[in-house]
Amino acid sequence: MPGAGSVNRISSRPLYSTLAWAYDLIIAGPVSDRCDFVQSMATQRGVLPGSSILDAGCGTGSYSIELAKRGYAITGLDNSSELISLASAKAEKVAVTAIFQVGDILELPSRPIYDGILCRGVLNDIIGDPSRRQAFFSLARALHKNSILILDVREWTSSTLRKEREPVFERVVEVNEGILTFRAVTRLDKKTRRLCVAESYVLERGDAVRTVTEYDFVMQCWTPDELHSSLIDAGFGSVVYFGDYDSDCPAGSTDRIIAVASV
Ligand SMILES: C[S@@+](CC[C@H](N)C(=O)[O-])C[C@H]1O[C@@H](n2cnc3c(N)ncnc32)[C@H](O)[C@@H]1O
Repeated sequence: MPGAGSVNRISSRPLYSTLAWAYDLIIAGPVSDRCDFVQSMATQRGVLPGSSILDAGCGTGSYSIELAKRGYAITGLDNSSELISLASAKAEKVAVTAIFQVGDILELPSRPIYDGILCRGVLNDIIGDPSRRQAFFSLARALHKNSILILDVREWTSSTLRKEREPVFERVVEVNEGILTFRAVTRLDKKTRRLCVAESYVLERGDAVRTVTEYDFVMQCWTPDELHSSLIDAGFGSVVYFGDYDSDCPAGSTDRIIAVASV
């Protein structure tokens, strides 16, 4: 570990690489409740336990593991090898069977092999129109007919309002090594609909060793129209939208869009 006061600037997002071990501490969500919604949507479309589901951009595998516990045949895929290692170890620890593999959602197998795909919080990481369109064609090609896609993204207009109001997000967590303070300050790039997030991770140990890691993370939000046309152009239909993982929460009432679609 570098000495007191050192600052690291690294080339990939720390939460996906050098500090992947802190991911679950910093980004926690109601996994089980969200999986209730996923399972209910899948059941409505005939995608039942036993079906093959791809968790595209699975992170540390929390959703993969919960869905595997519910009987789905899960493949968790992520382009971060650090997160995939953590996901595999987590599944092993709770004796859950799931396949975890390193891969890119832009380059999924170009034949139908899954009955469902969950793509949670991933598509904002895909920057630039060609890649964003490519992502939907890639997802569509990997799905059987009468399958299901469930995704969520940040919606641009309401994300703008929220981030103008609350540009700073901070979380302080106790970890084995000491205290980790995560701070994210968001600036809006209105021309490109991007959230430019200056992230800092400060790890302080009792013996006054302080390590600071800084990273500029960029996310590109979606408009409802862009999302809809990307789905339709790639061959998806029967599309419904929600504002949360809750069928009573209408689209437009939050800063996220949850889309459910079929090929
Ligand atoms: C915000 S995290 C969400 C993780 C997980 N889906 C969850 O809900 O906890 C975004 C994830 O997408 C992954 N990711 C981003 N771009 C990707 C790509 N092109 N292919 C595969 N994974 C990607 C990142 O490594 C990260 O694990």
